[in-house]
Amino acid sequence: MYHLVCVNCGADYAPEEIIYRCSSCGHLLAVKYDMDSVDVKKSEWNKRPVSVWRYREILPVKGEPVSLQEGGTPLYHLEKIGKELGLSSLYAKHEGMNPTGSFKDRGMTVGVSMAIQLGMSSVACASTGNTSASLSAYAAKAGIPAVVLLPAGKVALGKVAQALMHGAKVLAINGNFDRALEMVQELCISHGLYLLNSVNPYRLEGQKTIGFEVVDQLGYVPDRVVLPVGNAGNISAVYKGMNELIELGLIDKCPMMTGIQAEGSRPVVEAIEQDLSEVVPERFPETVATAIRIGAPVNAEKALVAIRNTGGAAASVTDDEILAMQRDLAKKEGIGVEPASAASVAGVKKLREEGLIDRDESVVCVVTGHLLKDPETVIKQCESPVQVDADMESLLALLQL
Ligand code: F0G
Repeated sequence: MYHLVCVNCGADYAPEEIIYRCSSCGHLLAVKYDMDSVDVKKSEWNKRPVSVWRYREILPVKGEPVSLQEGGTPLYHLEKIGKELGLSSLYAKHEGMNPTGSFKDRGMTVGVSMAIQLGMSSVACASTGNTSASLSAYAAKAGIPAVVLLPAGKVALGKVAQALMHGAKVLAINGNFDRALEMVQELCISHGLYLLNSVNPYRLEGQKTIGFEVVDQLGYVPDRVVLPVGNAGNISAVYKGMNELIELGLIDKCPMMTGIQAEGSRPVVEAIEQDLSEVVPERFPETVATAIRIGAPVNAEKALVAIRNTGGAAASVTDDEILAMQRDLAKKEGIGVEPASAASVAGVKKLREEGLIDRDESVVCVVTGHLLKDPETVIKQCESPVQVDADMESLLALLQL
């Protein structure tokens, strides 16, 4: 049993209402479960594979979900980078190992399942890329049409390729992501498409399972969870999930929620640093990490609570720091991630160097998307393959063997 609750005024809405914001005050909504009626047996969970649907008692979907087998992503111990940073318990949860290569699949398996449960016949989103790739795949699986709005020229190649191949109607608008999000919200409300950006509270339900898996895989609650922040949905989702585990008596503390933004797009960091009650949007966001090239994070009000209530932190990193960490993860740990994902680990390096992360802390970085999402940024950082004549002599000479 669950209902929708406004995070600001507490107004209540029935779960079958098609509503994305509180109709009395305009603030965000969250899914609230009646925990007394939820029958969670940890021993049952432990029998199921690690995946989004292991935790189905605290997810809103009733019947068979629209699933591509999402979640169950690896949690890697970052031995070498951890050693360099003086952190023996530094981990990366590789969300790039989801079906379409990002954490969005956790949100979309729930979000598209809810679209069907609510009787909606088409879905839409605005996206910096990954949301569109994921929505297109899940809409294809469900057999319903999808419309996706992208900021023209600012979406990594792999993500556009996915959205196109999965058969969505892909529209590139001459504006940034923030404008695309405004437009798609208007479109969905006026024309009855189901909105699957992270303003949709059901989508975040799927994403909270990142935190559940971390606790199950580690066997304990880490001191800190670090996420790249764009629209600020994922950090809010993980925080919400952890609090549900506390409410259920399954864990006894929430990790310090830590958000990392790019230097050219840091409204959440500004709000934390200046102790503002709400973010001031960045009108011209810019960063190589196009996934988080967002100036007006729609979930900021939830994220600020998550960071402040847990004694967490917010920091920004430069594009150079992001790309250096992308290379370090690839070359030292064998982990291939896209630039936005490397931001979380680059943020840990920065906070650690500033003495803001203690050496005894256990830290989990969520690395959110796969290396292959943005091949162009990879190629730009690497030498081209060396051409060699097709004979052994030339090969051995080149290799100096
Ligand atoms: N990392 C990646 C790879 C992303 O694609 C995103 C968001 C984030 C981090 C930030 O997550 O928005 O929940 O704070 N991408 C969205 C998209 C905006 O359209 O694909 P957030």
